[in-house]
Amino acid sequence: MQVNIALKKVVDNSYNITIDSLPKLHFDTKVAIVTNPKIAGLHLGYLLSKISAKELYIITVPDGEKYKNQESINTILESLFNHRFNRKSLLIAFGGGVIGDMTGYAASIYQRGIDFIQVPTTLLSQVDASVGGKTGMNNSYGKNLVGAFHQPQAVYIDPRFLTTLQNREFGAGVAEIVKMAVTFNKPFFEFLESADLKDAEILQEAIKQAVQTKADVVAQDEKEHGLRAALNYGHTFGHVIENETRYKKYLHGEAVAIGMVMANNTSVKMGIMSKEEAQRVKLLLEKYNLPVSYTVEDAESFYETFYLDKKSSDSSITFILPVGIGGVKITDRCEKKLLISVLNEFGEV
Ligand SMILES: NC(=O)c1ccc[n+]([C@@H]2O[C@H](COP(=O)([O-])OP(=O)(O)OC[C@H]3O[C@@H](n4cnc5c(N)ncnc54)[C@H](O)[C@@H]3O)[C@@H](O)[C@H]2O)c1
Repeated sequence: MQVNIALKKVVDNSYNITIDSLPKLHFDTKVAIVTNPKIAGLHLGYLLSKISAKELYIITVPDGEKYKNQESINTILESLFNHRFNRKSLLIAFGGGVIGDMTGYAASIYQRGIDFIQVPTTLLSQVDASVGGKTGMNNSYGKNLVGAFHQPQAVYIDPRFLTTLQNREFGAGVAEIVKMAVTFNKPFFEFLESADLKDAEILQEAIKQAVQTKADVVAQDEKEHGLRAALNYGHTFGHVIENETRYKKYLHGEAVAIGMVMANNTSVKMGIMSKEEAQRVKLLLEKYNLPVSYTVEDAESFYETFYLDKKSSDSSITFILPVGIGGVKITDRCEKKLLISVLNEFGEV
C-alpha cells in the first residue's frame, strides 16, 4: 500500500534587500530584536528610533563566535516563550553574521518557523551572511553544523553601521566581496581594482554589486546543490588555516583571503588561470591589508585536514577553483600531487 502526499507547492521565498538608510518600520505584531551588548551599545538607539511594534523586546546574547551555540539559541527561545510570541511574531537580527545566523536559526525552529528580518551591521554580514537564508550555529563537532535554510522576510543594509567597525573586521568583509567578484563578476572585479572602498559612496555601490551577485547565485541554487558552493571559494584552504591556527590568529575573512590565493595558485598550476590574473587578485587583497601569505609547515598534514571540511566526503575533497577572473570550477578531482606542490611552494613565500 502506498499513500502519496502531494506537496508539489511552488513556494515564493523572494524578498527585498534595501541598501540605504534604514527606513521607519512599523509592525503590528510582537517583535524581538536579537543583538549583543557591543552592538546594542553602539547602535541600538538608532535602530529604536526607526522601529515601532505592537510589543517590542530586546534579547541580548554574549558577543563572539564562541557563543554561537545551543545555549544562546536557548536564551533566544526562552525569551520568546516568556513573552508569549506566536507564529505571527517577528525577530529582527541586529548584528554581524553570528547574530544573523543564530537569529535566523531560532526563527526557523520557534513554533516550527516564524518570520525574521536581517539588519546586518558588519561588512561581512552586509555583503554575504545576511543574504541567502543559511542559518545555524556551531557545536563541538564544528562550525555551522546545525542549522536550516530559512530566508528572511527582508534585509535592510544601512552602511552607517560600518563607521564603527574595526579595520580588520572591515578587511574581512572586503575578502568576501573579492570572492564574489572573482568567481562570478569580472566587471565588478575591475571596478574594485580602481575603487577605494573607504569612500562611502563607492562602498555602497560595492555592497550593492556584491549582494546582487550573491542574490543571482542563490536564486539559481537556493539550497546549495551545485552552483552556490562556488561561494566557498577560498574556504577549503581557509578552513584548514583557521584550524591550524586554532581560530586565534586570523579572522574568518582573513583566512579566506589566504585561501583564495592558494586556490588561485592551484588554478595557475592547472592552467585555468594566468599568473597575471592571480597576481591581480593578490594585489587587490593586499590593498585592504588582507594577509596573502602563510607558512605551510607540513603540506601532508595540511592536506589531511581538508577532509574535516563539511563539504568534503570521506573520500574526496571539493575545491572551488577560479577559471580566470569571473569564472569558477567546482571539482572534487584535484590531484594530491599538484596540491602538495602548491602548498610546499606556498610555504616558501
Ligand atoms: N549565513 C551565511 O551565509 C554566512 C556567510 C558568511 C559567514 N557567516 C557567518 O558569519 C559569522 C561571521 O560574521 P561577522 O564577520 O559579521 O562576525 P561577528 O558577527 O562575530 O562580528 C564581528 C565583531 O564585530 C562586532 N560588530 C558588529 N557590528 C559592529 C559595528 N557596526 N561596529 C563595531 N563592531 C561591530 C561584533 O559584535 C563582533 O565582535 C560566522 O559565524 C560565519 O559562520 C554566515
